[in-house]
Amino acid sequence: MFGKLKLHPEDEILDVSAGTGLLAEMILQKDGPFRRFVLNDPSEGMLAKAKYLLRHHTKEIEFTGHFSEDLPFDDSAFSQIICLNSFHYYVDQPSAIKHFSRMLKPGGTLWILDWNRVGLFVIANKFIDLLSPENINSRTLNETKILCQNHGFVIKDEEAWRYRFWNFFFLECKLES
Ligand SMILES: C[S@@+](CC[C@H](N)C(=O)[O-])C[C@H]1O[C@@H](n2cnc3c(N)ncnc32)[C@H](O)[C@@H]1O
Repeated sequence: MFGKLKLHPEDEILDVSAGTGLLAEMILQKDGPFRRFVLNDPSEGMLAKAKYLLRHHTKEIEFTGHFSEDLPFDDSAFSQIICLNSFHYYVDQPSAIKHFSRMLKPGGTLWILDWNRVGLFVIANKFIDLLSPENINSRTLNETKILCQNHGFVIKDEEAWRYRFWNFFFLECKLES
């Protein structure tokens, strides 16, 4: 994801499921430009780790703790929204995409990298879902593309790849102006 992002000094960025802040750490280390950077995650434990990881950086970061299905930010609040390795956890994925579309400025970009539920990984996904206390509902690249397109996004870049039996996809989606 870090290699794909295109950031500008005027960017207002939301990392919707920032976890322990690993991506933010990379962006800050490389002096990735931005005007506003919000790290959101509903898990207090994850956010606490992110705050600790980023404690030495001087650029101001905002931390919030909402679910992606219920994000309270204003319409057109962000120019870039990042959803990294978390979409499969969302219980109501269409509602999350609706919020992303609402909160992005026209022409803004949604970046998604997640598990791609194709091939043998369908079976792995089922097992992970059965064994995990969390909601696990990975989508195919195509399903996610259609969901985004139905909410005003144009697909600018996409990729699908495999790591052992694990499948991933990447999407760069631009909100129509
Ligand atoms: C595997 S971690 C990925 C964290 C980070 N993006 C990364 O790649 O290091 C998934 C994150 O999604 C968050 N998450 C789970 N359900 C969520 C939801 N409904 N809305 C927003 N975030 C959620 C979890 O708290 C967790 O921090």
